[in-house]
Amino acid sequence: MSSDLIAFTASLPKAELHVHIEGTLEPELMFALAKRNRIDIPFKTVEAVRAAYQFTRLQDFLDIYYEGAKVLQTEEDFRDLARAYFNRAVADNVRHAEIFFDPQAHTARGVPFGVVMKGLLAAMEGAERAYGLSSKLILCFLRHLDQDDAFATLRDAEPWREKIVAVGLDSSEMGHPPSKFARVFAAAGSMGFKRVAHAGEEGPPEYVREALDLLKVHRLDHGNRSLEDADLTARLARTAMTLTVCPLSNLKLCVVKDLKSHPLPEMLAQGLRATINSDDPAYFGGYINDNYAAMAKASRLDRAAFVMLARNSFLGSFLPEAEVTKYLEVLDAYVARQA
Ligand code: ADE
Ligand code: ZN
Repeated sequence: MSSDLIAFTASLPKAELHVHIEGTLEPELMFALAKRNRIDIPFKTVEAVRAAYQFTRLQDFLDIYYEGAKVLQTEEDFRDLARAYFNRAVADNVRHAEIFFDPQAHTARGVPFGVVMKGLLAAMEGAERAYGLSSKLILCFLRHLDQDDAFATLRDAEPWREKIVAVGLDSSEMGHPPSKFARVFAAAGSMGFKRVAHAGEEGPPEYVREALDLLKVHRLDHGNRSLEDADLTARLARTAMTLTVCPLSNLKLCVVKDLKSHPLPEMLAQGLRATINSDDPAYFGGYINDNYAAMAKASRLDRAAFVMLARNSFLGSFLPEAEVTKYLEVLDAYVARQA
């Protein structure tokens, strides 16, 4: 592997389809917001926060992630959080981002849904104006809570229908299968929301099947464990289902033992429409280009494979077809100039 390949992946125009905005909260901003909002956080220094980011499974991370999110209180906080993400994304040649947010993590603390929305939308409009970076919002239901809570959140989202492209499902996967949320996903579908779900990150292939059959997802978040089931893998390939794969997240959460054994090359070999994403970059040691670079270092994927991954990111997006075509032309023109 050469540093040439890493530079090549860094400069590819790309989309990011799996990033939790609350997971982009860098410790420095956490401290600044804690001070601004006069909130106590259980850490003395930025270094102490980073040192606490040692996880052996998803739940270890989630406990600290929800704790960190408590510093987010006002419209300005959400705007500053998303603005910082967009500044990082544009440096990584991200041209389009589809961003998850976890409203229940905020409304449960008394922060109104509209405060979250207004802050995020302000940053999104700013990024479009300043950088031409387009973005969309995906409202995630927290799967450790019950379906009634998800329905209440869907009602909160009604006035914002045109500003949210899809609903998703995240948080503690084991013990909270997609079937638990079948009714609320059906209701969201009839309101016109697209649907995505985290499945097969820690959970078994059966959870992936449920996401497809019961939640009728347009995209699968992670999906790693699908590969354990040959029929399921063939179905995902045949239906060109996009998988939003997050290598550094998988490493930090011990979903994989090391990046050499990461399933991404196998996914591509099986004809799956896989993409590379950062998930919770402030917690997992890197933004999207760090994820591309880590896979360039650890695998035998070549330039053509990384072009395919970038291509998949636009194809798997919720952009209108004409916009996808436009971005693919930008990608092709870039690749042609490198030849
Ligand atoms: N929320 C934030 N990041 C997550 C992940 N990787 N899996 C499930 N829920 C999450
Ligand atoms: Zn995620």
